[in-house]
Amino acid sequence: MNIHITKVAKSRIEELNTDDLQFGKQYSDHMLICDFEDGEWKQPVIVPYGDITMSPATTFIHYGQSLFEGIKAYKRKDGEINIFRPRDNWERFNMSARRMAMAEVPEELFMEGMRQLIELDSNWVPDVEGSSLYIRPFMFGTDAFIGVKPADNFRFMIITSPAGAYYNKPTRIYVQNKYVRAFPGGIGFTKAAGNYGACMLPTLETRKLGYDQILWTDGFTHKNVQEIGTMNVFFVFGNTVVTPDLSEGTILAGVTRDSVIKLLQEKGIAVEERAISIDEIEENYKNGQLKEAFGAGTAAVIAPISELFYNGDTMLLPPMDTWEISNYIKKELADIRYGNIEDTHKWMYKVC
Ligand code: COI
Repeated sequence: MNIHITKVAKSRIEELNTDDLQFGKQYSDHMLICDFEDGEWKQPVIVPYGDITMSPATTFIHYGQSLFEGIKAYKRKDGEINIFRPRDNWERFNMSARRMAMAEVPEELFMEGMRQLIELDSNWVPDVEGSSLYIRPFMFGTDAFIGVKPADNFRFMIITSPAGAYYNKPTRIYVQNKYVRAFPGGIGFTKAAGNYGACMLPTLETRKLGYDQILWTDGFTHKNVQEIGTMNVFFVFGNTVVTPDLSEGTILAGVTRDSVIKLLQEKGIAVEERAISIDEIEENYKNGQLKEAFGAGTAAVIAPISELFYNGDTMLLPPMDTWEISNYIKKELADIRYGNIEDTHKWMYKVC
């Protein structure tokens, strides 16, 4: 694919502090831009990372036609760089685009644009195990028009950011029984920007109470758990792993979620995708059967949950050194990503 590349005059790589890779704080030298105008994708360009200008009437600012993805690239000990399952994110990106009445991004633009961007900024991919290059493809409506209608013009961009752990300690989770993230028929299954904007106030309130994140529940009964907003959720009841199913369209179909399910099933561990009520979680907790709970997502990877708070009651999870399943899955995923074991699923996409 022909991408016009303008390189930085001087790389900022010396400013990168690899000892303190806080999520989303530092950005690599270059970014990819491609505009959709007059019904077609124009020439993609890779240019130095920097500000973009736009009309104050730009449609996405007013009406929220904006969506994104989260993907990671990993550097192996031998220096090879691979991206984890990017094609799955491309498919999900376009699923979000269809729901938001936005243009779909061609596979070659998404995949090859990303590959060339990362090849160019390959020295920004950290080589310490546990760290990676977080890739953020995103798209927004660019019509300079404040009438309410779907945009005709869009901008697709990719920026990248070296990243360490998203959560640096086990998470304390507040099970939400007032606000709602998603209803059936809504956009809960997409990575539309508005999904995240609507969660800011509830998350702020939760943080003030000392919790890290919200576990969302269904809006009709506040009983069935959905997802954590930055990650999907898994519980271990006895020897069985359970996670909410995707049938209502209120939960993001996480690529990490799918990988966890597949790897556990291959290991012979029973996994159930189904409705899970908070009553069932409490019952398992009381019977000593709630063995582990963890979030799974691109940014968060596998994030253990130390505590769940619901309606005045606290459930404290057992000590984490006894957690066989989440420790197994975390290691298995890391080994595939850093090339320590064979990638039998062909999940890794080679950059260079
Ligand atoms: C991701 O895991 O990539 C996410 O989208 C979660 C969050 C950083 C928004």
